[in-house]
Amino acid sequence: MATINKSSSWKILNTHFEKTKSIHMRDLFSKDMNRFKNFHIQYEDFLVDFSKNRITDETLNLLINLAKEAKFENWRDRLFAGDKINFTENRSALHIALRNRSNNPILFNGKDIMPNVNKVLNQMKEFSENVRKGKIKGYTGKKIKSIVNIGIGGSDLGPAMICKALKPYGTNEITPYFVSNVDGADIAQTLDTCDPESTLFIVASKTFTTQETMTNAYSARTWLLKYLKDQEAIKNHFVAISTNQIAVEKFGINKENIFEFWDWVGGRYSLWSAIGLSICIYIGMENFKELLEGAHDIDNHFKEAPLNKNIPVILALLGLWYINFFKFNTHAVLPYDQGLSLFPSYLQQADMESNGKFIDRDGKKISYHTGPILWGESGTNGQHAFYQLIHQGTEVVPSDFIMPIHSHYSIGKNGNEHHKILIANFIAQTQSLMMGKTNKEASLELKKQNLNQETIKQLTPHKTFEGNRPSTSILFNKLDPKSLGRLIAIYEHKIFTQGVIWNINSFDQWGVEYGKQIAKLVLPKLIEPIETSGFDSSTNNLINYTKKNI
Ligand code: F6P
Repeated sequence: MATINKSSSWKILNTHFEKTKSIHMRDLFSKDMNRFKNFHIQYEDFLVDFSKNRITDETLNLLINLAKEAKFENWRDRLFAGDKINFTENRSALHIALRNRSNNPILFNGKDIMPNVNKVLNQMKEFSENVRKGKIKGYTGKKIKSIVNIGIGGSDLGPAMICKALKPYGTNEITPYFVSNVDGADIAQTLDTCDPESTLFIVASKTFTTQETMTNAYSARTWLLKYLKDQEAIKNHFVAISTNQIAVEKFGINKENIFEFWDWVGGRYSLWSAIGLSICIYIGMENFKELLEGAHDIDNHFKEAPLNKNIPVILALLGLWYINFFKFNTHAVLPYDQGLSLFPSYLQQADMESNGKFIDRDGKKISYHTGPILWGESGTNGQHAFYQLIHQGTEVVPSDFIMPIHSHYSIGKNGNEHHKILIANFIAQTQSLMMGKTNKEASLELKKQNLNQETIKQLTPHKTFEGNRPSTSILFNKLDPKSLGRLIAIYEHKIFTQGVIWNINSFDQWGVEYGKQIAKLVLPKLIEPIETSGFDSSTNNLINYTKKNI
Protein backbone atom coordinates (compact mmCIF):
# COMPACT_ATOMS: atom_id res chain seq x y z
CA MET A 1 0.00 0.00 0.00
CA ALA A 2 1.17 3.54 -0.79
CA THR A 3 1.84 5.40 2.44
CA ILE A 4 -1.34 6.89 3.80
CA ASN A 5 -0.18 10.50 3.54
CA LYS A 6 0.24 9.98 -0.21
CA SER A 7 -3.27 8.55 -0.63
CA SER A 8 -5.91 10.50 -2.50
CA SER A 9 -8.17 10.85 0.54
CA TRP A 10 -5.28 12.33 2.57
CA LYS A 11 -4.56 14.82 -0.20
CA ILE A 12 -8.22 15.83 -0.38
CA LEU A 13 -8.24 16.22 3.40
CA ASN A 14 -5.18 18.41 3.19
CA THR A 15 -6.84 20.74 0.68
CA HIS A 16 -9.94 20.82 2.88
CA PHE A 17 -7.74 21.58 5.89
CA GLU A 18 -6.11 24.54 4.17
CA LYS A 19 -9.55 25.92 3.34
CA THR A 20 -11.10 25.45 6.78
CA LYS A 21 -8.26 25.65 9.30
CA SER A 22 -9.05 29.19 10.44
CA ILE A 23 -12.78 28.78 10.88
CA HIS A 24 -13.82 29.51 14.46
CA MET A 25 -16.14 27.03 16.15
CA ARG A 26 -18.08 30.00 17.51
CA ASP A 27 -19.11 30.77 13.94
CA LEU A 28 -19.92 27.16 13.17
CA PHE A 29 -22.26 27.10 16.15
CA SER A 30 -23.94 30.38 15.33
CA LYS A 31 -24.53 29.33 11.71
CA ASP A 32 -25.87 25.88 12.51
CA MET A 33 -28.49 25.50 15.20
CA ASN A 34 -28.34 21.74 14.72
CA ARG A 35 -24.63 21.43 15.31
CA PHE A 36 -25.01 19.50 18.56
CA LYS A 37 -27.68 17.29 16.99
CA ASN A 38 -25.43 16.48 14.05
CA PHE A 39 -22.27 15.92 16.02
CA HIS A 40 -23.20 13.76 18.93
CA ILE A 41 -23.69 10.05 19.43
CA GLN A 42 -26.01 8.56 21.98
CA TYR A 43 -25.21 4.96 22.78
CA GLU A 44 -27.32 3.62 25.64
CA ASP A 45 -26.49 5.97 28.55
CA PHE A 46 -23.31 7.20 26.85
CA LEU A 47 -23.51 10.64 25.28
CA VAL A 48 -20.54 11.61 23.17
CA ASP A 49 -20.73 15.27 22.19
CA PHE A 50 -18.11 16.01 19.58
CA SER A 51 -19.67 19.22 18.31
CA LYS A 52 -16.98 21.33 19.98
CA ASN A 53 -14.40 20.13 17.49
CA ARG A 54 -12.99 21.96 14.48
CA ILE A 55 -14.89 19.95 11.93
CA THR A 56 -17.70 20.31 9.45
CA ASP A 57 -19.88 17.62 7.85
CA GLU A 58 -17.40 17.56 5.00
CA THR A 59 -14.44 17.02 7.35
CA LEU A 60 -16.15 14.02 8.84
CA ASN A 61 -16.99 12.52 5.47
CA LEU A 62 -13.43 13.00 4.25
CA LEU A 63 -11.97 11.44 7.39
CA ILE A 64 -14.27 8.47 6.96
CA ASN A 65 -13.07 8.14 3.37
CA LEU A 66 -9.52 8.07 4.69
CA ALA A 67 -10.41 5.23 7.09
CA LYS A 68 -11.97 3.35 4.19
CA GLU A 69 -8.97 3.89 1.97
CA ALA A 70 -6.79 2.49 4.78
CA LYS A 71 -9.04 -0.60 4.64
CA PHE A 72 -10.12 -0.04 8.22
CA GLU A 73 -13.17 -2.33 7.93
CA ASN A 74 -11.01 -5.15 6.69
CA TRP A 75 -8.53 -4.73 9.55
CA ARG A 76 -11.36 -4.64 12.07
CA ASP A 77 -12.62 -7.96 10.66
CA ARG A 78 -9.12 -9.37 10.98
CA LEU A 79 -8.89 -8.25 14.63
CA PHE A 80 -12.15 -10.01 15.52
CA ALA A 81 -11.24 -13.08 13.46
CA GLY A 82 -8.05 -13.57 15.48
CA ASP A 83 -5.64 -13.05 12.57
CA LYS A 84 -2.04 -12.65 13.70
CA ILE A 85 -2.10 -8.91 13.17
CA ASN A 86 0.70 -8.47 15.70
CA PHE A 87 3.02 -9.85 13.06
CA THR A 88 6.33 -8.80 14.68
CA GLU A 89 5.54 -11.15 17.55
CA ASN A 90 3.53 -13.56 15.40
CA ARG A 91 0.49 -13.12 17.67
CA SER A 92 -3.21 -12.40 17.47
CA ALA A 93 -4.76 -9.66 19.57
CA LEU A 94 -7.81 -11.45 20.88
CA HIS A 95 -8.66 -9.53 24.04
CA ILE A 96 -12.21 -9.36 22.64
CA ALA A 97 -12.50 -13.11 23.38
CA LEU A 98 -11.93 -12.50 27.09
CA ARG A 99 -15.14 -10.47 27.27
CA ASN A 100 -17.11 -12.37 24.67
CA ARG A 101 -20.23 -12.66 26.82
CA SER A 102 -22.22 -14.07 23.89
CA ASN A 103 -19.96 -17.10 24.22
CA ASN A 104 -20.10 -17.63 20.47
CA PRO A 105 -17.09 -19.65 19.34
CA ILE A 106 -13.91 -17.70 18.57
CA LEU A 107 -11.38 -19.69 16.64
CA PHE A 108 -7.65 -19.53 17.18
CA ASN A 109 -5.55 -21.89 15.05
CA GLY A 110 -8.82 -23.57 14.10
CA LYS A 111 -9.85 -24.27 17.71
CA ASP A 112 -12.54 -22.55 19.77
CA ILE A 113 -10.83 -20.70 22.63
CA MET A 114 -14.00 -19.92 24.57
CA PRO A 115 -13.92 -23.13 26.68
CA ASN A 116 -10.48 -22.15 28.00
CA VAL A 117 -11.54 -18.55 28.59
CA ASN A 118 -14.57 -19.79 30.57
CA LYS A 119 -12.46 -22.31 32.49
CA VAL A 120 -10.17 -19.56 33.78
CA LEU A 121 -13.15 -17.30 34.54
CA ASN A 122 -14.64 -20.11 36.65
CA GLN A 123 -11.32 -20.61 38.42
CA MET A 124 -11.22 -16.87 39.16
CA LYS A 125 -14.81 -16.96 40.42
CA GLU A 126 -14.19 -19.85 42.77
CA PHE A 127 -10.92 -18.46 44.06
CA SER A 128 -12.16 -14.90 44.56
CA GLU A 129 -15.33 -16.06 46.31
CA ASN A 130 -13.34 -18.29 48.62
CA VAL A 131 -11.00 -15.44 49.52
CA ARG A 132 -13.93 -13.07 50.12
CA LYS A 133 -15.78 -15.64 52.22
CA GLY A 134 -12.67 -16.38 54.24
CA LYS A 135 -12.52 -20.01 53.08
CA ILE A 136 -9.05 -19.44 51.68
CA LYS A 137 -6.96 -18.49 54.65
CA GLY A 138 -3.41 -17.51 55.44
CA TYR A 139 -0.91 -20.12 56.66
CA THR A 140 -1.77 -19.53 60.33
CA GLY A 141 -5.51 -19.70 59.68
CA LYS A 142 -6.19 -15.96 59.52
CA LYS A 143 -8.65 -14.51 57.01
CA ILE A 144 -7.08 -12.64 54.06
CA LYS A 145 -7.37 -8.91 54.65
CA SER A 146 -4.85 -7.48 52.17
CA ILE A 147 -4.17 -8.43 48.60
CA VAL A 148 -0.98 -7.15 47.00
CA ASN A 149 -0.88 -7.22 43.22
CA ILE A 150 2.75 -7.28 42.12
CA GLY A 151 3.04 -6.42 38.43
CA ILE A 152 3.96 -3.56 36.12
CA GLY A 153 2.62 -1.96 32.94
CA GLY A 154 -0.41 -3.87 31.75
CA SER A 155 -0.13 -6.21 34.71
CA ASP A 156 -0.69 -3.30 37.06
CA LEU A 157 -2.21 -0.18 35.52
CA GLY A 158 -5.59 -1.63 34.50
CA PRO A 159 -6.35 -3.45 37.78
CA ALA A 160 -5.05 -0.52 39.88
CA MET A 161 -7.12 2.00 37.93
CA ILE A 162 -10.27 -0.16 38.10
CA CYS A 163 -10.01 -0.97 41.82
CA LYS A 164 -9.75 2.75 42.50
CA ALA A 165 -12.60 3.63 40.14
CA LEU A 166 -14.92 0.96 41.51
CA LYS A 167 -14.20 1.50 45.19
CA PRO A 168 -17.94 1.91 45.91
CA TYR A 169 -18.34 -1.73 44.77
CA GLY A 170 -15.33 -3.01 46.74
CA THR A 171 -15.50 -5.05 49.91
CA ASN A 172 -14.52 -3.30 53.14
CA GLU A 173 -13.01 -6.51 54.40
CA ILE A 174 -10.11 -6.61 51.96
CA THR A 175 -7.72 -3.82 50.98
CA PRO A 176 -6.12 -4.02 47.54
CA TYR A 177 -2.54 -2.77 47.11
CA PHE A 178 -0.58 -2.43 43.90
CA VAL A 179 3.18 -2.63 43.80
CA SER A 180 4.85 -1.95 40.48
CA ASN A 181 7.96 0.21 40.83
CA VAL A 182 11.27 -1.54 41.42
CA ASP A 183 12.12 1.40 43.67
CA GLY A 184 12.19 -0.40 47.02
CA ALA A 185 10.00 2.32 48.52
CA ASP A 186 7.00 0.89 46.71
CA ILE A 187 7.13 -2.63 48.14
CA ALA A 188 8.62 -1.55 51.50
CA GLN A 189 5.86 0.96 52.21
CA THR A 190 3.19 -1.55 51.21
CA LEU A 191 4.65 -4.33 53.35
CA ASP A 192 4.81 -1.93 56.29
CA THR A 193 1.02 -1.66 56.22
CA CYS A 194 0.37 -5.41 55.76
CA ASP A 195 0.19 -8.26 58.24
CA PRO A 196 2.05 -11.29 56.82
CA GLU A 197 -0.52 -13.69 58.27
CA SER A 198 -3.42 -12.10 56.39
CA THR A 199 -1.78 -10.97 53.14
CA LEU A 200 -2.17 -12.60 49.75
CA PHE A 201 0.36 -11.75 47.03
CA ILE A 202 -0.77 -11.92 43.43
CA VAL A 203 2.25 -12.02 41.17
CA ALA A 204 0.91 -10.78 37.85
CA SER A 205 3.31 -11.18 34.98
CA LYS A 206 2.65 -12.48 31.52
CA THR A 207 6.27 -13.47 31.04
CA PHE A 208 7.24 -14.01 34.69
CA THR A 209 10.64 -12.59 33.80
CA THR A 210 10.01 -8.83 34.15
CA GLN A 211 12.82 -7.48 36.30
CA GLU A 212 10.71 -5.12 38.41
CA THR A 213 8.00 -7.66 39.13
CA MET A 214 10.35 -10.53 39.90
CA THR A 215 12.49 -8.37 42.21
CA ASN A 216 9.40 -7.22 44.10
CA ALA A 217 7.99 -10.76 44.23
CA TYR A 218 11.22 -12.18 45.68
CA SER A 219 11.35 -9.39 48.28
CA ALA A 220 7.74 -10.11 49.25
CA ARG A 221 8.58 -13.81 49.56
CA THR A 222 11.60 -13.07 51.78
CA TRP A 223 9.45 -10.81 53.96
CA LEU A 224 6.77 -13.45 54.31
CA LEU A 225 9.22 -16.23 55.18
CA LYS A 226 10.95 -14.00 57.70
CA TYR A 227 7.71 -13.91 59.68
CA LEU A 228 6.13 -17.27 58.92
CA LYS A 229 9.40 -19.24 58.83
CA ASP A 230 8.12 -22.08 56.68
CA GLN A 231 8.43 -22.53 52.90
CA GLU A 232 5.02 -24.19 53.02
CA ALA A 233 3.49 -20.78 53.78
CA ILE A 234 4.13 -19.72 50.16
CA LYS A 235 1.25 -21.99 49.12
CA ASN A 236 -1.22 -19.99 51.18
CA HIS A 237 0.12 -16.54 50.44
CA PHE A 238 1.17 -16.49 46.79
CA VAL A 239 -0.73 -16.95 43.56
CA ALA A 240 0.51 -16.18 40.07
CA ILE A 241 -1.04 -15.05 36.82
CA SER A 242 1.19 -15.90 33.93
CA THR A 243 1.66 -17.61 30.60
CA ASN A 244 4.96 -19.04 31.91
CA GLN A 245 4.04 -21.99 34.11
CA ILE A 246 7.60 -23.34 34.40
CA ALA A 247 8.98 -20.07 35.83
CA VAL A 248 6.06 -19.79 38.26
CA GLU A 249 6.64 -23.27 39.65
CA LYS A 250 10.34 -22.51 39.96
CA PHE A 251 9.42 -19.53 42.12
CA GLY A 252 7.66 -21.95 44.48
CA ILE A 253 4.04 -21.25 43.67
CA ASN A 254 1.73 -24.24 43.59
CA LYS A 255 0.35 -25.43 40.27
CA GLU A 256 -3.23 -24.97 41.56
CA ASN A 257 -2.44 -21.35 42.36
CA ILE A 258 -1.56 -20.47 38.78
CA PHE A 259 -4.08 -18.58 36.68
CA GLU A 260 -3.41 -19.05 33.03
CA PHE A 261 -3.61 -16.62 30.17
CA TRP A 262 -2.38 -16.70 26.65
CA ASP A 263 0.03 -15.25 24.15
CA TRP A 264 -2.84 -13.76 22.21
CA VAL A 265 -3.55 -11.36 25.10
CA GLY A 266 -1.33 -8.28 24.88
CA GLY A 267 -0.04 -6.93 28.21
CA ARG A 268 -1.88 -3.63 27.95
CA TYR A 269 -5.10 -5.42 26.96
CA SER A 270 -4.91 -7.99 29.74
CA LEU A 271 -7.08 -6.56 32.51
CA TRP A 272 -9.98 -8.63 31.10
CA SER A 273 -8.00 -11.84 31.64
CA ALA A 274 -6.85 -13.46 34.90
CA ILE A 275 -4.72 -10.32 35.31
CA GLY A 276 -8.02 -8.95 36.63
CA LEU A 277 -7.94 -11.33 39.62
CA SER A 278 -7.31 -8.51 42.10
CA ILE A 279 -10.36 -6.70 40.66
CA CYS A 280 -12.43 -9.87 41.04
CA ILE A 281 -11.44 -10.37 44.65
CA TYR A 282 -12.10 -6.73 45.49
CA ILE A 283 -15.42 -6.10 43.70
CA GLY A 284 -16.66 -9.69 43.35
CA MET A 285 -17.14 -11.87 40.29
CA GLU A 286 -20.61 -10.55 39.41
CA ASN A 287 -19.26 -7.02 39.14
CA PHE A 288 -16.22 -8.23 37.20
CA LYS A 289 -18.60 -9.87 34.72
CA GLU A 290 -20.46 -6.55 34.38
CA LEU A 291 -17.15 -4.94 33.45
CA LEU A 292 -16.71 -7.61 30.76
CA GLU A 293 -20.33 -7.05 29.62
CA GLY A 294 -19.65 -3.35 29.17
CA ALA A 295 -16.59 -4.01 27.02
CA HIS A 296 -18.49 -6.64 25.03
CA ASP A 297 -21.25 -4.09 24.32
CA ILE A 298 -18.65 -1.76 22.83
CA ASP A 299 -17.08 -4.59 20.83
CA ASN A 300 -20.46 -5.09 19.19
CA HIS A 301 -21.01 -1.36 18.73
CA PHE A 302 -17.53 -1.03 17.18
CA LYS A 303 -18.24 -3.92 14.81
CA GLU A 304 -21.74 -2.91 13.81
CA ALA A 305 -22.35 0.84 14.07
CA PRO A 306 -21.97 2.84 10.84
CA LEU A 307 -18.66 4.68 10.85
CA ASN A 308 -20.25 8.11 11.33
CA LYS A 309 -22.08 6.84 14.44
CA ASN A 310 -19.26 4.70 15.75
CA ILE A 311 -17.81 6.14 18.96
CA PRO A 312 -14.28 4.67 18.81
CA VAL A 313 -14.02 5.47 15.11
CA ILE A 314 -15.13 9.09 15.58
CA LEU A 315 -12.70 9.60 18.47
CA ALA A 316 -9.91 8.08 16.38
CA LEU A 317 -10.64 10.28 13.37
CA LEU A 318 -10.80 13.45 15.45
CA GLY A 319 -7.43 12.60 17.00
CA LEU A 320 -5.95 11.98 13.60
CA TRP A 321 -7.36 15.23 12.21
CA TYR A 322 -5.61 17.18 14.96
CA ILE A 323 -2.27 15.35 14.96
CA ASN A 324 -1.79 14.95 11.24
CA PHE A 325 -3.32 18.13 9.88
CA PHE A 326 -3.33 20.77 12.63
CA LYS A 327 -0.12 19.22 14.08
CA PHE A 328 -1.51 19.38 17.62
CA ASN A 329 0.73 16.74 19.11
CA THR A 330 -0.66 16.22 22.57
CA HIS A 331 -4.02 15.01 23.76
CA ALA A 332 -5.49 15.50 27.23
CA VAL A 333 -7.85 13.12 28.99
CA LEU A 334 -9.69 14.91 31.76
CA PRO A 335 -12.00 12.76 33.85
CA TYR A 336 -14.35 14.71 36.11
CA ASP A 337 -14.53 11.91 38.64
CA GLN A 338 -12.07 11.34 41.44
CA GLY A 339 -12.44 7.58 40.96
CA LEU A 340 -10.99 7.95 37.48
CA SER A 341 -7.88 9.77 38.66
CA LEU A 342 -5.68 6.89 37.44
CA PHE A 343 -7.44 6.72 34.07
CA PRO A 344 -4.97 9.08 32.31
CA SER A 345 -1.94 7.02 33.39
CA TYR A 346 -3.70 3.81 32.43
CA LEU A 347 -4.45 5.31 29.01
CA GLN A 348 -0.88 6.51 28.60
CA GLN A 349 0.26 2.93 28.38
CA ALA A 350 -2.71 1.81 26.28
CA ASP A 351 -2.19 4.59 23.75
CA MET A 352 1.49 5.50 23.79
CA GLU A 353 2.82 1.94 24.02
CA SER A 354 0.49 0.98 21.17
CA ASN A 355 0.89 3.86 18.76
CA GLY A 356 4.20 5.47 19.67
CA LYS A 357 5.85 4.05 16.54
CA PHE A 358 7.85 5.51 13.66
CA ILE A 359 8.10 2.39 11.52
CA ASP A 360 5.11 1.28 9.49
CA ARG A 361 3.90 -2.27 8.90
CA ASP A 362 6.06 -2.46 5.78
CA GLY A 363 9.19 -1.61 7.79
CA LYS A 364 9.44 1.90 6.35
CA LYS A 365 10.14 5.08 8.32
CA ILE A 366 6.93 7.06 8.71
CA SER A 367 6.78 10.64 7.48
CA TYR A 368 3.66 11.74 9.40
CA HIS A 369 2.85 11.94 13.08
CA THR A 370 1.52 8.87 14.86
CA GLY A 371 0.45 8.52 18.51
CA PRO A 372 -0.06 11.75 20.49
CA ILE A 373 1.57 12.56 23.79
CA LEU A 374 -1.31 11.66 26.05
CA TRP A 375 -1.68 13.20 29.46
CA GLY A 376 -4.29 14.34 31.92
CA GLU A 377 -5.54 14.66 35.44
CA SER A 378 -8.90 14.54 37.11
CA GLY A 379 -11.07 17.65 37.16
CA THR A 380 -11.19 20.02 38.92
CA ASN A 381 -7.60 19.52 40.13
CA GLY A 382 -6.23 19.97 36.61
CA GLN A 383 -8.02 23.31 36.33
CA HIS A 384 -5.76 24.68 39.06
CA ALA A 385 -2.63 23.22 37.51
CA PHE A 386 -2.32 23.15 33.73
CA TYR A 387 -5.61 24.41 32.27
CA GLN A 388 -4.09 27.89 31.97
CA LEU A 389 -1.95 26.48 29.15
CA ILE A 390 -4.95 24.80 27.55
CA HIS A 391 -6.81 28.13 27.56
CA GLN A 392 -4.05 30.53 26.58
CA GLY A 393 -0.90 28.57 25.82
CA THR A 394 0.79 28.53 22.44
CA GLU A 395 0.03 24.79 22.18
CA VAL A 396 -3.50 23.72 21.32
CA VAL A 397 -4.47 20.63 23.30
CA PRO A 398 -7.52 18.71 22.07
CA SER A 399 -9.13 17.29 25.19
CA ASP A 400 -11.59 14.60 26.20
CA PHE A 401 -13.81 15.62 29.11
CA ILE A 402 -15.29 12.55 30.81
CA MET A 403 -18.00 12.62 33.46
CA PRO A 404 -20.65 10.46 35.09
CA ILE A 405 -23.95 12.32 35.64
CA HIS A 406 -24.47 10.77 39.07
CA SER A 407 -22.02 10.51 41.90
CA HIS A 408 -21.80 7.60 44.32
CA TYR A 409 -21.44 10.05 47.14
CA SER A 410 -24.29 12.00 48.60
CA ILE A 411 -22.62 14.94 50.26
CA GLY A 412 -23.12 18.67 50.78
CA LYS A 413 -26.36 20.67 50.45
CA ASN A 414 -29.25 18.50 49.12
CA GLY A 415 -26.82 15.62 48.90
CA ASN A 416 -25.57 16.74 45.50
CA GLU A 417 -23.85 20.07 46.08
CA HIS A 418 -20.38 18.73 45.25
CA HIS A 419 -21.49 16.97 42.11
CA LYS A 420 -23.44 19.98 40.82
CA ILE A 421 -20.31 22.12 41.23
CA LEU A 422 -18.26 19.47 39.44
CA ILE A 423 -20.74 19.34 36.55
CA ALA A 424 -20.80 23.14 36.31
CA ASN A 425 -17.01 23.24 36.06
CA PHE A 426 -16.96 20.49 33.44
CA ILE A 427 -19.46 22.27 31.21
CA ALA A 428 -17.94 25.70 31.82
CA GLN A 429 -14.51 24.52 30.73
CA THR A 430 -15.66 23.04 27.45
CA GLN A 431 -17.77 26.12 26.74
CA SER A 432 -15.02 28.65 27.45
CA LEU A 433 -12.37 26.67 25.59
CA MET A 434 -14.58 26.68 22.53
CA MET A 435 -15.97 30.23 22.71
CA GLY A 436 -13.00 32.09 24.11
CA LYS A 437 -13.44 35.77 24.87
CA THR A 438 -12.91 38.39 22.19
CA ASN A 439 -10.91 41.53 22.65
CA LYS A 440 -14.12 43.52 22.58
CA GLU A 441 -15.78 41.34 25.20
CA ALA A 442 -12.74 41.52 27.45
CA SER A 443 -12.51 45.28 27.23
CA LEU A 444 -16.26 45.70 27.87
CA GLU A 445 -15.97 43.56 30.96
CA LEU A 446 -13.16 45.75 32.26
CA LYS A 447 -15.11 48.91 31.50
CA LYS A 448 -17.92 47.64 33.73
CA GLN A 449 -15.42 47.52 36.58
CA ASN A 450 -14.97 51.30 36.28
CA LEU A 451 -11.27 51.05 35.48
CA ASN A 452 -9.48 53.87 33.75
CA GLN A 453 -8.79 53.79 30.02
CA GLU A 454 -5.10 53.05 30.38
CA THR A 455 -5.61 50.07 32.70
CA ILE A 456 -8.30 48.71 30.38
CA LYS A 457 -5.93 48.99 27.43
CA GLN A 458 -3.15 47.31 29.37
CA LEU A 459 -5.27 44.43 30.71
CA THR A 460 -7.41 43.68 27.68
CA PRO A 461 -4.93 41.44 25.78
CA HIS A 462 -4.28 39.41 28.92
CA LYS A 463 -7.98 38.84 29.46
CA THR A 464 -8.64 37.88 25.85
CA PHE A 465 -9.08 34.22 24.91
CA GLU A 466 -8.78 33.00 21.33
CA GLY A 467 -11.06 30.08 22.01
CA ASN A 468 -11.48 27.54 19.20
CA ARG A 469 -9.82 24.98 21.49
CA PRO A 470 -11.37 21.61 20.78
CA SER A 471 -12.92 19.24 23.27
CA THR A 472 -15.09 16.15 23.23
CA SER A 473 -17.48 15.49 26.11
CA ILE A 474 -18.20 11.93 27.17
CA LEU A 475 -21.06 11.60 29.66
CA PHE A 476 -22.61 8.50 31.14
CA ASN A 477 -24.98 7.72 33.94
CA LYS A 478 -22.77 6.48 36.75
CA LEU A 479 -19.27 5.11 37.19
CA ASP A 480 -20.31 1.47 37.60
CA PRO A 481 -18.58 -1.71 36.36
CA LYS A 482 -20.50 -1.81 33.09
CA SER A 483 -19.89 1.82 32.14
CA LEU A 484 -16.23 1.54 33.05
CA GLY A 485 -15.94 -1.55 30.82
CA ARG A 486 -17.52 0.45 28.04
CA LEU A 487 -15.26 3.45 28.55
CA ILE A 488 -12.07 1.37 28.47
CA ALA A 489 -13.15 -0.57 25.38
CA ILE A 490 -14.02 2.69 23.58
CA TYR A 491 -10.43 3.84 24.01
CA GLU A 492 -8.94 0.44 23.12
CA HIS A 493 -10.78 0.48 19.79
CA LYS A 494 -9.98 4.12 19.20
CA ILE A 495 -6.28 3.28 19.53
CA PHE A 496 -6.66 0.29 17.20
CA THR A 497 -8.45 2.40 14.57
CA GLN A 498 -5.72 5.03 14.58
CA GLY A 499 -3.03 2.35 14.33
CA VAL A 500 -4.74 0.89 11.27
CA ILE A 501 -4.89 4.25 9.48
CA TRP A 502 -1.28 5.04 10.39
CA ASN A 503 -0.33 1.59 9.07
CA ILE A 504 1.48 0.61 12.27
CA ASN A 505 1.43 -2.49 14.45
CA SER A 506 -0.33 -1.27 17.60
CA PHE A 507 0.35 -4.49 19.49
CA ASP A 508 4.12 -4.71 19.91
CA GLN A 509 6.41 -2.55 22.09
CA TRP A 510 10.01 -2.91 20.95
CA GLY A 511 10.97 0.42 22.52
CA VAL A 512 10.13 -0.92 25.96
CA GLU A 513 11.98 -4.16 25.25
CA TYR A 514 15.06 -2.15 24.23
CA GLY A 515 15.06 -0.31 27.58
CA LYS A 516 14.86 -3.65 29.41
CA GLN A 517 17.79 -5.01 27.36
CA ILE A 518 20.09 -2.08 28.22
CA ALA A 519 19.15 -2.18 31.93
CA LYS A 520 20.38 -5.77 31.95
CA LEU A 521 23.74 -4.62 30.55
CA VAL A 522 24.10 -1.77 33.04
CA LEU A 523 23.23 -3.71 36.20
CA PRO A 524 26.36 -5.94 36.29
CA LYS A 525 28.52 -2.89 35.62
CA LEU A 526 27.22 -1.33 38.84
CA ILE A 527 28.56 -4.33 40.72
CA GLU A 528 31.92 -4.95 39.01
CA PRO A 529 34.80 -3.51 41.10
CA ILE A 530 36.74 -2.03 38.16
CA GLU A 531 36.12 1.29 36.46
CA THR A 532 33.50 0.91 33.74
CA SER A 533 34.31 1.74 30.12
CA GLY A 534 32.78 0.60 26.87
CA PHE A 535 29.68 2.84 26.89
CA ASP A 536 29.65 6.46 25.77
CA SER A 537 31.41 8.92 28.09
CA SER A 538 28.20 10.14 29.74
CA THR A 539 27.01 6.62 30.54
CA ASN A 540 30.45 5.46 31.73
CA ASN A 541 30.69 8.47 34.03
CA LEU A 542 27.19 8.09 35.41
CA ILE A 543 27.93 4.45 36.25
CA ASN A 544 31.31 5.25 37.79
CA TYR A 545 29.95 8.22 39.74
CA THR A 546 27.14 6.20 41.32
CA LYS A 547 29.56 3.32 42.04
CA LYS A 548 31.95 5.65 43.80
CA ASN A 549 29.25 7.34 45.85
CA ILE A 550 26.94 4.47 46.65
O1 F6P B 1 5.70 -2.26 29.45
C1 F6P B 1 6.12 -3.28 28.60
C2 F6P B 1 5.47 -4.56 28.94
O2 F6P B 1 5.97 -5.53 28.09
C3 F6P B 1 3.95 -4.44 28.83
O3 F6P B 1 3.45 -4.68 27.58
C4 F6P B 1 3.51 -5.38 29.89
O4 F6P B 1 2.22 -5.07 30.26
C5 F6P B 1 4.54 -5.14 30.97
O5 F6P B 1 5.74 -4.94 30.27
C6 F6P B 1 4.69 -6.22 31.97
O6 F6P B 1 5.07 -7.44 31.41
P1 F6P B 1 4.80 -8.78 32.15
O7 F6P B 1 3.33 -8.92 32.37
O8 F6P B 1 5.34 -9.85 31.27
O9 F6P B 1 5.52 -8.75 33.47
